[in-house]
Order: sequence, then C-alpha cells, then structure tokens
Amino acid sequence: MNQEQRPGYFRIVFDCRDIADAAVPGQFCMLKVADKGEILLRRPLSVHRIENGKLEFLYELIGKGTRELSRRRPGEGLDLLGPLGNGFDYSSDEYAAKKPILVAGGMGAAPLVFLAEKLRERKNKGSKSKTLVLIGAKTKSHILCEKEFKNYGCDVKIATDNGSAGSRGRVTALLEGILSEEETGQAVIYGCGPNPMLKELSRISNEIGVPAQLSLEAHMACGIGACLGCAVRTKEGYQRVCKEGPVFDARKMIF
Ligand code: FES
Repeated sequence: MNQEQRPGYFRIVFDCRDIADAAVPGQFCMLKVADKGEILLRRPLSVHRIENGKLEFLYELIGKGTRELSRRRPGEGLDLLGPLGNGFDYSSDEYAAKKPILVAGGMGAAPLVFLAEKLRERKNKGSKSKTLVLIGAKTKSHILCEKEFKNYGCDVKIATDNGSAGSRGRVTALLEGILSEEETGQAVIYGCGPNPMLKELSRISNEIGVPAQLSLEAHMACGIGACLGCAVRTKEGYQRVCKEGPVFDARKMIF
C-alpha cells in the first residue's frame, strides 16, 4: 500500500517481516527510491508503525525522490535497508517508571506513534504512567497523527502557530507551561521534529532538569556510519546521527 493520507502526506506499507520484527521506536530505514540521476541516493525514513508484522512509514511529498516514491504501486519491489540507528529508551530502569511526554513537531509525529504503541503495551503490562503527547504544527490542517496517538490511549494536546487548533504558539511553550505544573522529577521527554524545536527542548530539559531523548534530523547519504555526512556536535565530540543516533540524550548535545 502506498496511499495519500491527506494532501501531501503518504503512508507506505512494506511486507518485510525481518525488519518489522527487529525495529524499535526511533530507528529508521534507508529506502532506495530509484536508480537514476539525482534520486540515486537512499532516503532515511523513520519507522512509523508496525501493524500485523508489516512495516509502515509516513512521508511528506517534498521533492523529486518522494514524488517518485509516491508513484510506486503495490507489488513493485523497493530496496530497503534497516532497521538502522539507536532508538528511544523507554524500558531501562532510568526511564521505565517515568511519565512519558512525547513532543512532536511536524513530521516528527511519525516515529513517535511507534513509541506510543510500545508505551501502550507497557501500560497494558501494569505501568501506571499515562502518555502525554504534545503536537506542534503550523495550522490545524498540518496536525499529524492525532487520531493514532488517541487510539493508543494517549492524552493529546495541540499547539499551532496561528492558533487554529489547540493553544497558539510553539509546542515548546506548551510544554514549559505543563512542566511548571508537573512533578518534573517523574517525567521524561521524547522529542522529534525540526532541529530548532529540539534545541529548545534541550534548553528546557537542561534548565528544568527533566531528562529528554531527542531524535535528530540530518541529511544522510549512506545511513550506516561510513560517510560522516551526518555528524553533529556533542559534548563527547562529533557523533553520527545515523549510527550513534538518531536519538540522543539532550544532556550531551551542543546545538
Ligand atoms: Fe553516512 Fe551518517 S549518513 S555517516
């Protein structure tokens, strides 16, 4: 399946059991869209959902590569490499008992749906903390995945730049307001979205003392740690988004 979910946004589903069984939230795959010209390179796509052993991705129509991808029909094989990178930590002793707050900016909602699914499984096994999701978007029509998050039992709050849905302003401002009322020692932030939003999440995390795991976006050529094209600065030196990330602890990032 490869269908437009709403104008400009497509969902593509792969019958690829090996990757589906191995993937954890926050990981991505490199997808080779075509073997010609400028769109030779593979594209990174974050895993959006795993449903009945099938692998789902959400993508936005933003250039030649994604336009070419949108023309692919069921039955056509595509070259997929993954799962790659390090995903979110939601089950270690450090994070398992904390209240998850997912902060999604734009397309950043896509991988956080997969995390919300896993957090619901954790809740079904007895975890007390309910997941809170904050979605940031330009306008009401840009809000992504609200229904999916609600289907996974999450509380969802919205912030839009123009106030057409939810509160008016940045999703990070919404988060700060919520954290000022929460017992912050019990929360953990999982963020995915544009880098300016992640930078702000990092600041909030460090100032308020709430741990945050941030999934970074980067241009990727190889996706497997070989080209160094995706390196970012951290307190531990340069690290590769595709290999050491894409999920990083906010405490070590230098934006
Ligand atoms: Fe090549 Fe990360 S994309 S090292």
